[in-house]
Amino acid sequence: MIHLKNAIKQLPVVYDINTRPKAPHLTVTDPANSRPIAFVETTDSKETEAVIEKAEKAFSSWSAKTAKDRCKVLKKWHDLLLENSDLLAEVITLESGKPIQEAKGEVAYGASYVEWFAEEAKRAYGEMVPAPWQDAEILVMKQAIGVVAAITPWNFPVAMITRKVAPALAAGCSIVVKPAEDTPLSALIMEKLALDAGLPHGTLQIVVADNPAKVGAVLTSHSAVKKLSFTGSTAVGKLLMKQCASTVKKLGLELGGNAPFIVFEDADIDAAVAGAIASKYRNAGQTCVCANRFYIQSTVYDEFVEKLALSVQELKLGHGLKEGTTVGPLINQAALLKVSALVEDAKSKGAGVKSGGQAAKMGGNYFEPTILTDITLDMDIAVEEIFGPIAALNRFETEQDVIKLANDTPYGLASYFYARDVGRIFRVGKALEYGMVGVNTGIISTEVAPFGGIKESGLGREGSHYGLDDFMELKYMALTGLGR
Ligand code: SIN
Repeated sequence: MIHLKNAIKQLPVVYDINTRPKAPHLTVTDPANSRPIAFVETTDSKETEAVIEKAEKAFSSWSAKTAKDRCKVLKKWHDLLLENSDLLAEVITLESGKPIQEAKGEVAYGASYVEWFAEEAKRAYGEMVPAPWQDAEILVMKQAIGVVAAITPWNFPVAMITRKVAPALAAGCSIVVKPAEDTPLSALIMEKLALDAGLPHGTLQIVVADNPAKVGAVLTSHSAVKKLSFTGSTAVGKLLMKQCASTVKKLGLELGGNAPFIVFEDADIDAAVAGAIASKYRNAGQTCVCANRFYIQSTVYDEFVEKLALSVQELKLGHGLKEGTTVGPLINQAALLKVSALVEDAKSKGAGVKSGGQAAKMGGNYFEPTILTDITLDMDIAVEEIFGPIAALNRFETEQDVIKLANDTPYGLASYFYARDVGRIFRVGKALEYGMVGVNTGIISTEVAPFGGIKESGLGREGSHYGLDDFMELKYMALTGLGR
């Protein structure tokens, strides 16, 4: 808590737990035990309007800077994020629960987007198109879209902010971010570091809301906001889409997933087990890209189950700041109840329990790393996004069967399969209806690749060289009368 105590002194809207502020505020708690760790002053809907107006003013000067100047500020911010990695990691662990090693990994991952888009800022190239008229040229240019609003989740309190803020700033936009109510502290620290890096006031503003629906309504209806970028559930994404309709905002939506994880009989089973552990138990299973449905070819099913169980026994459940912890708590009691209900429903309908299977005896919001076998389609866990450390396993017979099963969902974010036959790798990779396919890997996230989903998993792509376009508009100028 050393780092956090020091940071609180520098953040005007954050108070330690002995100093409850008079102004409206929310309490940030440690998910492991629900104990308060800080108070944060909140912004109401009226104040949010003022924040947007400030962002509008900042946009005109920030977008007028050269790409090289924006790049310099972003590079400095990147360096400060890494220099403050210990602080940010501790805060991520305290407010989201993830183990400190994972939190450090998240800071590096988050910072990588800032470095990437600092460089991409200089490559927002336009085009000259041959005109269909005499004495004419057609010029296509990219321009910053304007003020952006971002609504970000608690499961990656740093990386989901940088993945939106870095391309927005690189493009020349200003941005207002509403972080999740569970995890505002890391967002406020990042805002301070951005100012320290030389970002002009008003260009990046964090609004912490105690009434997220009201603040969200302002962000999605204000005419000055030109784009909404949201990461969260499909249900909330659909609501925000509706709210954005009246002002026809551009949308970037990274929504829920229901990732299949397929193991074919020709796979390297040890590698598949390692990938399953990485994909399923990262952040206690609380990621949109977590393996959600395991399909194992029946000829290798028993071997996979036994080996996975041995690896799951190695996982260490505990407080994220405790040395050696590899799986932390769930974010809150509601999450614990939801996961427990999914497991009970599966058990009552015939699922086997190979490991875990219940809330941990140590109390708090911990759920045991779990393996359920013989999942059937009538179980809720077969269709819902689990968001917990539960591997739900089923067997399949043929390639055609498993592709049908894997695609039988409204979601289309991440998918994974393990196989060695090259023909199969191409066939299955093309047939999976997902925005991202991990082949012989359980980890697909990187700043260089386009992150995003199809179907009800979202719109647009984050990261990669495609990610900048989502924050820019195309304009074409028809230049005529140029002479011969
Ligand atoms: C998410 O869970 O929304 C993001 C996961 C990632 O970037 O790896």
